[in-house]
Amino acid sequence: MGYRESYDRSISDPEGYWAEQASAIDWFTPPKQVLVPSEGEDGEPIPRWFGGGVLNTCYNALDRHVIAGRADQPALIYHSAMTDARRTYTYAELLERVAKLAGALTALGVRRGDRVVIYMPMIPEAAMAMLACARLGAIHSVVFGGFAPAELAARIDGAEPKVIISASCGLEPNRVVEYQPILDAALSRTEHQPDHCIVLQRPEARAELTEGRDHDFAELMSAKDIEPAAAVEVEALDPLYILYTSGTTGKPKGIVRDNGGHAVAMSYAMREIYDVGAGEVMFTASDVGWVVGHSFIVYGPLIAGATTILYEGKPVGTPDAAAFWRVVAEHGVKAMFTAPTAIRAIRKVDPDGELLADHDLSTLQTLFLAGERTDPDTLNWAAEKLDIPVVDNWWQTETGWPIAANLRGMEPMPIKAGSPSVPVPGYDVQVLGPDGTELPAGTEGAIAIKLPLPPGTLAGVWGDRQRMVGSYLSAYPGYYATGDGGVIDEDGYVTILGRTDDVINVAGHRLSTGAMEAVIATHPAVAECAVIGVADQLKGQIPRGFVVLKQGKEVDPAELEAALVKLVRDEIGAVAALRRIDVVDGLPKTRSGKILRKTMREIADGKQAVIPSTIEDPSVVEQLRPVLGS
Ligand code: COA
Ligand code: AMP
Repeated sequence: MGYRESYDRSISDPEGYWAEQASAIDWFTPPKQVLVPSEGEDGEPIPRWFGGGVLNTCYNALDRHVIAGRADQPALIYHSAMTDARRTYTYAELLERVAKLAGALTALGVRRGDRVVIYMPMIPEAAMAMLACARLGAIHSVVFGGFAPAELAARIDGAEPKVIISASCGLEPNRVVEYQPILDAALSRTEHQPDHCIVLQRPEARAELTEGRDHDFAELMSAKDIEPAAAVEVEALDPLYILYTSGTTGKPKGIVRDNGGHAVAMSYAMREIYDVGAGEVMFTASDVGWVVGHSFIVYGPLIAGATTILYEGKPVGTPDAAAFWRVVAEHGVKAMFTAPTAIRAIRKVDPDGELLADHDLSTLQTLFLAGERTDPDTLNWAAEKLDIPVVDNWWQTETGWPIAANLRGMEPMPIKAGSPSVPVPGYDVQVLGPDGTELPAGTEGAIAIKLPLPPGTLAGVWGDRQRMVGSYLSAYPGYYATGDGGVIDEDGYVTILGRTDDVINVAGHRLSTGAMEAVIATHPAVAECAVIGVADQLKGQIPRGFVVLKQGKEVDPAELEAALVKLVRDEIGAVAALRRIDVVDGLPKTRSGKILRKTMREIADGKQAVIPSTIEDPSVVEQLRPVLGS
């Protein structure tokens, strides 16, 4: 079936369409109700998929491939540019380790529905930990290694895990990041305490284990009295994982993904979008702490029976700008996936792409880019140097897989640089005006998706039904609000123009300016503050802060800047990458007191700024212009 026919069918007969796709998954009990409608006030806020179905996600990712004769095929290849290590796990080996780790978790009391927080760097044990949870029907919540204690603590208190799985350290280019002090600091702040922690000791730094609480990962894995665990039967609607993501406020949102819809969506996306099947190799250069890592380092490739590369390192400097090309050539990668920032970083170091010539990239068929907007310049550069299609795809933590893409497995379409191509089947993408009316082609507006969303998208916000409704469903009744603005052209191609809220994207990392403001506001000299995302050539966006001092406070602006930068780094993490904070006399506001961040952003980006008529004092904008423009 071609794209158009497939898309139309997915919208006119979603139940029939997804029931067919569900047959790519091994079910212990097939679904009874393909689409479960949303309920009233207190029930399910959003339609769900595959009610009554019983399966196990880990079984679909591992066991069934071993049973089908792929036992000796590489399932996961760990390639570390940081330690120069390579380790290959066949499907049989990965299954053996995951089953053993699941057995260890069982011995520590973890059962179906319990939560497990995973705070680990890019090592194979991180993927094993995720799969071991899935095997037991336990719900994992992976926390990105670049977050500081406060962010980790918020996620621990949110998920209330029985067990935390961690490692002694992560490796950054200039430093070893010790995780145990971060974990200890987080646990000294949390109300919730886990029953146990499992810590993987890496040679670069050894963690000091706390007697009675901490267990050595390697010891558990070699313990003779721990039985490997079998895959537990779970309901399709049972949560597989929680993944926290930045919202507009300082408090992250725990996006819940369920088992059944996710498994079907992963298998569908691998086949129809990424065109990677059993026995083929996919290299996703991201981190298991982000949704791209969940979907296309761990679950997608394994559910498809493919080989996944788990890469520890950076695109440049570890040791050079050929690091990605080395991975492709060494492992025969067919499809590669990364963030546009990574390509911009490579191009900056190797503008003529000279390093590509040193590596045999003949297996590489497609480069996929997502996580932030791909600027046409970057896309064209990569397409020319690699001489393959470069495919932008647009999605979010909430959806878990692409909303708009060029479906390489279904029907490759012409690529228009600057657009992630067309809505993926299942997503009824609409551009809405402020009053919620659907706008015609070529008109900019808020992008929303008519319900139901397809399988694999968010099932809710963990422990906060109201936030699910308030954040996503109430702005335009009957639609899911994406938080992105954009336009759809006459050919149906979508262009994303950026967030309509205060979420920013720094080097493909989603961050909340609200969270940074909350940290800055705690400083005793600060009366009020605003953080905005401004355009940056390398990272897409970077945050910039503006503070108004409390009356009578005399501080040296450079000292205050240094103190606030450190505060944000300590509280949120180095990834926040907030480096510049200006002291100003006032912030532009509406008469009701709302800070005009959008106007500030437009001026900083050198755009024609829209000054709303509701502004309290237009002279504040004029005073700010020189600072914003500098
Ligand atoms: N653990 C601890 N610290 C981390 C970290 C991690 N997992 N990841 C990043 N950091 C730190 C970095 O060391 C850096 O610290 P520094 O300020 O002391 O130098 C800081 O966070 C900012 O990191 P980053 O935004 O990655 O910037 P960079 O200048 O180090 O590197 C790029 C720039 C472009 C190479 C890098 O951002 C990159 O690889 N981007 C691709 C992002 C990506 O894959 N995103 C996933 C979504 S698809
Ligand atoms: P995250 O939840 O971290 O994946 O971030 C999701 C947000 O990143 C989206 O809401 C967009 O604002 C942005 N984004 C992701 N992919 C793209 C893309 N291909 N083009 C434009 N913006 C994107």
